Formats: sequence, structure tokens, C-alpha cells
Amino acid sequence: MSKNVSIDWSKLGFDYMKTDLRYVSIWKDGKWDDGKLVEDNKVTISEASPALHYGQQCFEGLKAYRTKNGDIQLFRPDQNAQRLNRSCRRILMPEIPVEKFIDACMQVVKANADYVPPYGTGATLYLRPFVIGIGDNIGVKPAPEYLFSVFCLPVGPYFKGGMAPVNFTIADMDRAAPQGTGAAKVGGNYAGSLLPHENAAKKGFADCIYLDPATHTKIEEVGAANFFGITKGGAFVTPKSDSILPSITKYSLMYLAEHYLKLKVEERDCPIDALDQFSEAGACGTAAVITPIGGIDVGGKLHVFYSETEVGPVTKKLYDTLVGIQFGDVEAPEGWIYTVK
Ligand code: PLP
Ligand code: COI
Repeated sequence: MSKNVSIDWSKLGFDYMKTDLRYVSIWKDGKWDDGKLVEDNKVTISEASPALHYGQQCFEGLKAYRTKNGDIQLFRPDQNAQRLNRSCRRILMPEIPVEKFIDACMQVVKANADYVPPYGTGATLYLRPFVIGIGDNIGVKPAPEYLFSVFCLPVGPYFKGGMAPVNFTIADMDRAAPQGTGAAKVGGNYAGSLLPHENAAKKGFADCIYLDPATHTKIEEVGAANFFGITKGGAFVTPKSDSILPSITKYSLMYLAEHYLKLKVEERDCPIDALDQFSEAGACGTAAVITPIGGIDVGGKLHVFYSETEVGPVTKKLYDTLVGIQFGDVEAPEGWIYTVK
């Protein structure tokens, strides 16, 4: 079991670290087994597993937060469970009962409680649930067996600088096709994003912004995060598209913008040639939290929003509200917080 660990929480980025125990459950003969915690961080599977050849796999990302009084809480894990099941349905994998998913996350957090960063460090415990198609198979067809696992690791900011604005450029490739797998959290979407990300990074940008694959005129995603903009009139605007990953953070922010900040909220097209409508912009996601967008490079010209160095006031308020809820300092809407007991 866990021992006290010696980690400089303030130096954490988004890098892998083995923790003590992870959860594993196997689907065989039409059902999931009870699942168990294991120490080994290696997965041994058939060389012919469909996860390896045909990308039959999907994953999730959520975090555990240490509150001021030392409790540990999860943020909307039921939403991650439901999205995982939507991903599973899209690529013909068996669903995980929501209670089983939440129980697995709870078990993993409890077993690795010493790795949950202390309150006040800003760091969190990132949980990575995943489902992979395993077993002997060579034709393009669903796997005979599946593995569901959850592991965890302490993390700091995903984008260097945390709440400092960063710049993005428009991707030179698409991450998803119309009616493809863009709305599912499947590994293939991320494999396809490695090269455009590298091209953006080589030009000095934090990541790239994907436009809609059909017309290349509207913003879809910001790397592995969703986009939002604050209009000059004070509305919270975020793109609507079937090829975007439906971000739990984004839907939470839409709710908080409307009910806590009393802003108008619009989920609609965000044309790349109408960036002028926004006085602030940001990327949001579990890993990215809220990362302010300083500017977007469009065809060699940087469109700056609020500032390249300072966070805009609405973005800051949204951040404080969201993070305040996640760490237990601000009252959460009913059903958002699951205390780990
Ligand atoms: N978009 C992509 C492509 C992602 O990988 C993620 C990360 O999960 C998000 C958006 C943000 O989603 P969420 O807020 O649920 O973490
Ligand atoms: C997340 O925010 O959880 C993500 O999945 C982003 C990423 C690290 C793939």
C-alpha cells in the first residue's frame, strides 16, 4: 500500500510517474469480472490484440482534488463514465456500468492517497481510465476480450505557464472527419494530432487549433482542449460541432457562466475570420483546466485577444469559480462533487 511520498509538488508538469496501485478488470464471455487492484504497471496482451492494430481502444481523463480540510474529491466522474460509454459504443466495445467506473476511480484514489497533492499547491491527481480490445484476432473485427484499467499520477499544469496566456496557430491538418470519431475519446484522434502538434510547436506555439474538417472556416478544438471566447458584449461562446470531443469542463463552464457569472451563453459556430468579436479567449479541459489564449496565428498574422501576457477578467473569474468548486472552496452545483471515502 501507499507510503508517504517525497515529491516537489510545485515542480510537477504533466509527466508520467508510476504510483502504487492501479485497477484492472477483464471482459470475457459477455461480462466484466469484479476487477482488482494490482501493483504491476505493465500490460501483457496478445500480439494480435485489436487495440494494437486497429485502434480499438478509448480512454478518459479526470482528476482528484485535495480540499482545505484534507478530504479528497472527484469532479463529475459520472460524466466521464458516460462519455467513456459513448466512445465504447462508437467502436463496438462493451460499456462499463457507471457505478463500476466510479468505484474503480475511488479504489485507485484511495489506494494512492499519498500521491494526491496537498491543498494549496495547485497540483492534482490525474486519473487515466482506459478500455482496450485484447485477445487473438487478425481480421478487422471487434476483439474477443477487453481490458478496463484505471491508473493515476500527480500532475501540475498541462501547458507551461498554467494560467499564463499562450499562443496557438491554425493546424495544417484535420483531427477528425465529418461523421468520423472526433466526438469519441479514441486513441486514433490523438495519433493523428501528433504531427500537426509538432509542426505548431516547431513554430513556437503551445499547440494548434483545429478547424472544422468540412469547410476549414470554423474553430473546433484547441489541441486536446475545447475553445471558448468571451464576446465584447460579455457572452460566453463555444463552438458546436459533431466532430468535437464534448468537454466536461466546457459544459461545466457553460453552466457556471450562466448561473454563477450571469453571462449569456452560446454554443454556436466560431468562424476563424470573426475573431474580432472576442475580447478574451481560452482553452478548457481536464488537463488544460482553463488556459488563456494570448493570440491565434492565422496565416502568419497573430490575432491577440485580451493580452499576450495577462489574463482577462472574465477568464479569471471563470477559472476561480471552476477551480474553487473543484478544490471545495466554492459551493458546487448539486451532484458535481464525489467525496472519496
Ligand atoms: N478535447 C480533446 C480533444 C480532449 O482530449 C480533451 C480532454 O479530455 C478535451 C477536449 C477536454 O475535455 P474534458 O473537459 O472532458 O477533459
Ligand atoms: C484530458 O484533459 O484529460 C485529456 O485527455 C487531455 C490529454 C492529456 C490527452
